[in-house]
Amino acid sequence: MNVNDHPTRTIRPLPNGAVEIIDQTLLPHRLQWRTLMTLTDACEAIVVMRVRGAPLIGATAAYGMALATRADASDAGLAQASAALIATRPTAVNLRWAVERMQAVLLPLPVAQRAATAWTEAARICDEDVACNAAIGQHGLALFQKWARPGQPLRVMTHCNAGWLATVDWGTALAPVYAAQAIGMPLFVWASETRPRNQGASLTAWELREQGIDHAVIADNAAGLLMRRGEVDVVIVGADRVAANGDVANKVGTYLKALAAHDNGIPFYVAVPGPTIDWRIPDAAHIPIEERDAVEVTHIPGALDDALHTVRLTPAGCAAVNPAFDITPARLVTGIITECGVAPPGRLADLYPNPA
Ligand code: MRU
Repeated sequence: MNVNDHPTRTIRPLPNGAVEIIDQTLLPHRLQWRTLMTLTDACEAIVVMRVRGAPLIGATAAYGMALATRADASDAGLAQASAALIATRPTAVNLRWAVERMQAVLLPLPVAQRAATAWTEAARICDEDVACNAAIGQHGLALFQKWARPGQPLRVMTHCNAGWLATVDWGTALAPVYAAQAIGMPLFVWASETRPRNQGASLTAWELREQGIDHAVIADNAAGLLMRRGEVDVVIVGADRVAANGDVANKVGTYLKALAAHDNGIPFYVAVPGPTIDWRIPDAAHIPIEERDAVEVTHIPGALDDALHTVRLTPAGCAAVNPAFDITPARLVTGIITECGVAPPGRLADLYPNPA
């Protein structure tokens, strides 16, 4: 995607053996790159959500393994690094997928060769993510073209941020939006704010503006009304994990959108790259839901006169609970868009005859 008119990826290795990421905790107020030098830096960036979004978490974990090999590339060192990375966030399966892939490539090698290979493999994981998302964009675009009405923008609703910032490039749910823009198709995006971390209001709105896509932010609770009024043509979201039966774990609030879409006859699509599908689990009952700090509900960050502040919303000492994801059952999902094509959730396996 373009940032300040330059094609840019969200994560990049530096010539000095470090890795650079955009610190997403500062957006939309500051676009600031941050250098990760060590495994600990990579873990911290994932835990506090400087990087977030399932594919980007996976890419960062891969580079976290590469950073770890510089300190200790032994079997024990790799095991320790894998455990530290996997403990950072539990729901996005791309994290475990990336760590296991790095282990599978590195462990058979002599220790002296592991560091160089780790950097190559992490770069390969990033390139594959970009290619997957570009393909998702084309498959999603074919759907968008079916619903397009002459002279009118297609009205797309999304939740959280499953765009460029959540991946290495292009995004998943927003990839079809960018593909549609590239062929001049008129579009309008409803970005729901996504309490409590507000990824829709802060990240999706920022990247849509950077890319010049017409959009509006809505309060999460406005989604049902807009659907009922006929102001939404399609809902499209990403996912942190899809079970083999097509159940979807995604940012908390996704389930309510799926229910409202179902009630109003609006297609509800989930866009994911292959590494987001967890073939090991039959259904969502096996997906761990991350519980984050209650302070994310009781307090809110923002900018005032160019300075960043966090303020309290609730009475002091108020109890709060903060599940970060929810489950949308497969029956509410119209289709899943992957790099291999589009399938109803119950036919997902048709797209992957030999799932890894
Ligand atoms: O807590 P986050 O911001 O990491 O959650 C992100 C999401 O829920 C995204 O929708 C999901 O990871 C898909 S990103 C392509």
